[in-house]
Amino acid sequence: MTETVEQHFDTTVARDQRIEPRDWMPDKYRATMIRQIAQHAHSEIIGMQPEGNWITRAPSLRRKAILIAKVQDEAGHGMYLYSAAETLGVDRAELTEKLISGRQKYSSIFNYPTLNYADVGVIGWLVDGAAICNQVPLCRSSFGPYARAMIRICKEESFHQRQGYELLMTMMRGTEAQRQMVQDATNRFWWPSLMMFGPPDDRSPNTGQSMAWRIKRHTNDELRQRFVDMTVPQADVLGVTLPDPDLRWNAERRHYDFGEPDWSELQSVIKGNGPCNVQRVAQRRAAHEDGAWVREAALAHAAKHADAAATPDGEPR
Ligand code: 3HC
Repeated sequence: MTETVEQHFDTTVARDQRIEPRDWMPDKYRATMIRQIAQHAHSEIIGMQPEGNWITRAPSLRRKAILIAKVQDEAGHGMYLYSAAETLGVDRAELTEKLISGRQKYSSIFNYPTLNYADVGVIGWLVDGAAICNQVPLCRSSFGPYARAMIRICKEESFHQRQGYELLMTMMRGTEAQRQMVQDATNRFWWPSLMMFGPPDDRSPNTGQSMAWRIKRHTNDELRQRFVDMTVPQADVLGVTLPDPDLRWNAERRHYDFGEPDWSELQSVIKGNGPCNVQRVAQRRAAHEDGAWVREAALAHAAKHADAAATPDGEPR
């Protein structure tokens, strides 16, 4: 008996093989992948802003070079991810339009301000650390182009995480004022970093189906726990206190117990009411409008080449 396209999809997922763009897939699978990849791409692009603000004020040439490289990597991640989304039949311009008109989301974490240079280190340590926890399992995601993009992205994210930690280590070995800056940045970014993993499992509408399709390999709460377990020993080595009075080792569970993030804050930030939502989207919109001449010039150049390549009767050579 020949396999139907639907059976082929189900067995490919069940065998832990990859769904490729040419394969049949349920409409809802396609829509879920577009939603997740687009949100992820937008997060990488908007994520350039909070740290990009510090490029002109980096404390040394070395720190400036590292920060420029990091911010440029985020742009690259956005580009791979938009390309992965395009294999599903959507257009990058359409996705950008949805972002700047507020119809598509990006990660809540980038709606918090960066107030001093320690924030650059803490973003590397906590935000990129959380991104790695979330994204390493996505290298085994069932959609091939997304899974492959994640491999390179994760390699670069681990460099980002280590540069952040190294910056913080340097500051912690510095003056009392520098140590206070690191503690202050940790206090501000700890809870928003835990929120990056999404709402708790009993309030996450998409997790069940995304796990069944092997898009997600772990639930939001499982990954949040993994992040806490990984980060507490790093905070000890660094010498900072994580701002959670309920944080303690649970010998029975063999995991750290931790306090409940403020889920109403996450919902409010997702809805567009975080401290920097308006500013982030306005800046993205302005950059897009400023770049219009580049897109027009590139299209005109491509059209001219196509003309030159055509024969006098208009047929391609
Ligand atoms: N920020 C904004 N929106 C969020 C969110 C967050 N932290 N967490 C959840 N949401 C949204 C979801 O997108 C969903 O909205 P939608 O249905 O309208 O799309 C809703 O809240 C309910 O959440 P669910 O848990 O049901 O949604 P998911 O199953 O999609 O899980 C997720 C959310 C864990 C963020 C998942 O989509 C995911 O793993 N995405 C890929 C990773 C990603 O996007 N990372 C961005 C982080 S930043 C980054 O990578 C940049 C790097 O440089 C640090």
